[in-house]
Amino acid sequence: MKIFLDSANIEQIRQAKALGAIEGVTTNPSLLSKESGDWKKIVRQICREIDGPVSVEVIATECAAMLAEARDLVKIAPNVVIKVPVTLEGLKAIKELHQRGIETNATLVFSPNQALLAAKAGASFVSPFVGRLDDIGQDGMQVIQDIMTIFRNYDLPTQVLAASIRHTSHFFQAALLGADAATIPLAVLLELIKHPLTDIGLAKFLADWAKR
Ligand code: G3P
Repeated sequence: MKIFLDSANIEQIRQAKALGAIEGVTTNPSLLSKESGDWKKIVRQICREIDGPVSVEVIATECAAMLAEARDLVKIAPNVVIKVPVTLEGLKAIKELHQRGIETNATLVFSPNQALLAAKAGASFVSPFVGRLDDIGQDGMQVIQDIMTIFRNYDLPTQVLAASIRHTSHFFQAALLGADAATIPLAVLLELIKHPLTDIGLAKFLADWAKR
C-alpha cells in the first residue's frame, strides 16, 4: 500500500519524507487554507519535495470551470493530480481530463456506486472518506472493501486511495483489504511507529547496558 501524507504543510511533509515512507501528498481546500502565503507557491514547493502524485482540488463546481482550473493546476508541476469531487459536473470533468491524459483523484466518495462511476469516467484514484462515514454511524471500511471487490470484479485500473483516515486501525484495515494507497495525517503516521513494548524494551536494553 502506498502511503500519502494528507497535508499542505511543508514542514509536516518534510518530517514525513525523512521517515522514507511517503510516496505522495493529498491536499484539499481546507488543508491549503490553513497555510499562510501564496497557495500556488505552496503547491509548487510540495511538488518539488515529493516525487509522487500531489493531489490539488478544483474549487469550481461547473465542468467547464473545473477544466479551466485544471489547465492552470497542471502547469504548476508535472506530478500534480487534479482532485475533483464526484458530482454530476465533476464526473464530466474527470472524463474530459482523462481523455486529455491528465490524472485525476475523484474525491468526496462515500459509496461504491460513486466510486464505480468515477472509475468508468477514467479517474486515476478514487478517495473514499472512511472517517467521515464512521462519523455518521456508517462503516467506512466496508465501503473500501466493497469498492475493492467491484474494481477487482471488472479489472478496473483505478486505484483505491483510502482517505479521511483518523487512526492507526483505519490504516491497518486499509492495508489488510489491499487498498492501493492510504492518505494519512502526520499525527497518524507518527502513531504508527509507536508500541509500548518497543519503549519498554529499549529502556531495558539501555538500563542493562548502563550496568555493565
Ligand atoms: O484529503 C481528504 C480527507 O483525507 C479528509 O479527511 O479527516 O477531514 O475527514 P478528514
